[in-house]
Formats: sequence, structure tokens, C-alpha cells
Amino acid sequence: MVKRFVRTVSRLGYQKVAKPLMFRHEPDAVHKGLVRTSKKVQKVPGVRSLPKLWAHRDAMLETKVFGVGFRNPVGLSAGFDKKIELPGIMRNVGFGWMTGGSVTWGEYEGNEGAWFHRLPKSKSLVVNAGLPSEGTSVVSERVGAYSAKLFDNFPLTVSVAKTNSKTSVGDAAGVRDYCKSLAVFDALEQVGVLEINISCPNTFGGEPFTTAGRLEKLLAAVDKLHLTKPVVIKMPINLPADEFDRLLDVIIRYKVAGVAIGNLLKDRSLAKLDDELPGSVKGNLSGKPTKDITTELVRRTYKKCGTKLTIIGIGGIMSAEDAYEKIKAGASLVGLITGLIYEGPQLVGEINRGLVRLLKADGYAHISEAVGQASRGKK
Ligand SMILES: Cc1cc2nc3c(=O)[nH]c(=O)nc-3n(C[C@H](O)[C@H](O)[C@H](O)COP(=O)(O)O)c2cc1C
Repeated sequence: MVKRFVRTVSRLGYQKVAKPLMFRHEPDAVHKGLVRTSKKVQKVPGVRSLPKLWAHRDAMLETKVFGVGFRNPVGLSAGFDKKIELPGIMRNVGFGWMTGGSVTWGEYEGNEGAWFHRLPKSKSLVVNAGLPSEGTSVVSERVGAYSAKLFDNFPLTVSVAKTNSKTSVGDAAGVRDYCKSLAVFDALEQVGVLEINISCPNTFGGEPFTTAGRLEKLLAAVDKLHLTKPVVIKMPINLPADEFDRLLDVIIRYKVAGVAIGNLLKDRSLAKLDDELPGSVKGNLSGKPTKDITTELVRRTYKKCGTKLTIIGIGGIMSAEDAYEKIKAGASLVGLITGLIYEGPQLVGEINRGLVRLLKADGYAHISEAVGQASRGKK
């Protein structure tokens, strides 16, 4: 009863007060402000537990994926907490896992000018951050200082990307750059999963390892590291279908546990937008315009690779129905960022609560039973 009241007030408060206030300011400033406030909140005993009122737990949602326990399948996707400063608050908000980063070996301040541009009618963001990072040594030291207990049933995925610098553009230098970071994060007990971001669209030299030949070089080197944590590849979403398939053909030959589908949308011609987007605004699209494209890629991957690869469905999830669609298409886990910004932080609990309702309505006793059902031609 109290929780339902809190949920209703939170949704209304976010939609009617917090969001209109935040959206009066430039998105870059709002993002910085949100991170600053969240850091403060998670330090104050009592206050830091308040977001737990939004969270929803249910045994139907507790799941084991690539040998790792998740208290629910809904996670924070890479890019919101680049410095990995917010695991405490993300756990309390009700996420079942979170991705920190992307982190790169070398530090980089990010692109000049605005990093984010809102497309509110399209529920999308144009992102032009350019892989800012404090660098692996600073971020890994921060992660290593957290209590490992924080990540019990709430695994931390660290997204590793290639340093955005002219010196790491060549294949061999790029591979070395990734490998150094992966080895450092693999050694930390706080880290549950490693994600390799091959698909950051706006970096020196373009998307680094999104051709089959170059990906092969990277994965051959990664295999030689004998990493102990499951490895996931963050996939591009704007490749022609046959090129996407060729990447999957490479991935299944190496020690890769899963694919996260996917990253931002580079090709604006594929996006149905309800806002004006002048060509002068640089960057790539998140949110609703990526929803159907990513669901289709999840379906395609599930049909092609079946249980050989675990799929994480990411792109435009704004509701339990959106998350369920990706799960039934073949995703074992789902991730989001943009939904949090347009719908509010209570969304995570709402999705988990809605998933339980949807699973029961379809006659499933556990989330794992629903994975891939639509791609197998079932309801
Ligand atoms: C503000 C922002 C920053 C992002 N930064 C990263 C990043 O550093 N690494 C990465 O792999 N993906 C990054 N992404 C992509 C997201 O992880 C996600 O794949 C994409 O936004 C689609 O999910 P969404 O529609 O729920 O936002 C970023 C997205 C946003 C909105």
C-alpha cells in the first residue's frame, strides 16, 4: 500500500515537476548534476535507502546467466556511470545489474562542445561524448575499493573501450589497448562481467573492430589472456544484416559468453523521429528510435546462435512491455539508459513489477522460460 503510494507520487512527481525543471537546462549540465546528487545521496545513511521503495523483488525474476547470479534481469547500460561512482544508488533503485564505463586505458576528456542533445517527442538522445574516460588505472582503483558484497546478485559489468586517441588507431595498438584494460578489470573480485565495446561510433578512426577480420584479431588476442570473467561484446546496430551475421560467426568461434545488442544508432536515415534534428547537431541516437531495430537484431541473433550466445537486449526500453518484447525475442537480460531519463528512476521497479505480471499472464513460472519464445514461434 505504502509502496504503491510512493510509486504513484514518484511517477507523477518526476513527470510533472522534476523532468520539466531538468529539461529547462542543457542536458550536459543535468547529467553532471544527476551524477553529483546521486553520489551525495548514496553517502547519507537513511536517505540512500529511500530509492529501495521503488525497487521490486520477485523469485520469478532472479536468474543465473553465464554462471553469474542476477537478482533481476533489468540493468543499467554503459554510459550513464562512466566513472563507476554510483553502484550503491543503482542497486537501491532496483537494478539487477549495472554496466560501468565505457572505460579506456588512457584518459580522454571527451569531445569539445555539447555531448548530449534531447529529442523529447522521439524519446531519444543524440550522444556525442566521444568516449571520455579517467583511464583504467583511476577507475579500477575506485572499483577495487568497493566492498565485494555490494555486487552480490547485482553484478558489475565493466565496459572496456579503446582509448580515443590517434595513437591507438592501428589494429595492433588498438588490440593492446583493449587487452591491458581487460586484464586489469578481470583481476578485481568486484567485477562480474567484462563487456568489450567494439561499436562506439564517434572515435578517431571510426568504429574500431566492427569488421569480421579486425574483430577476429581482437578476439584471438583476448582469448590468449585467459580471462576468468564472462566476456560480452557490445554490438553495432547499423550494419547490413550480412555484415552483422559475419561478426556473430566470428564471435561464436571464441571464448565469448554473450552479446549486448546494441549500441547507439549512427545512421539517422533508419530512425523515425518526431523532432527536428538539424545536421549541425553531431552524434548518434539512443532511445525509442533504436527499439525495433535492436529487437529485430535480438531475434535474428537468437535464431542464428540459439543457446551458443547469451543475449542482452538494449535499446529504447521505456516500459515492462518493451523489456518483455526483447526477452521473448531472445534476450536473457535487458539494459537501459534513456528510459531512466524520460520516465524517471521509478521505471526500474515498474519494469520488474510489470514483467512478473506479463510472465504470469502468459503462464510462465520463471523469466528463463520466456526467453526466445517469440522467436521460436510461440506467444
Ligand atoms: C548518455 C549516453 C552515453 C552512452 N555512453 C556509452 C558508452 O560509454 N559505452 C557504450 O557501450 N554505450 C554507451 N551508450 C549506449 C547505451 O549503453 C545504449 O546502448 C543505448 O543508449 C541504447 O539504450 P537506451 O535506448 O536504453 O539508451 C551511451 C548512451 C547514452 C544515452
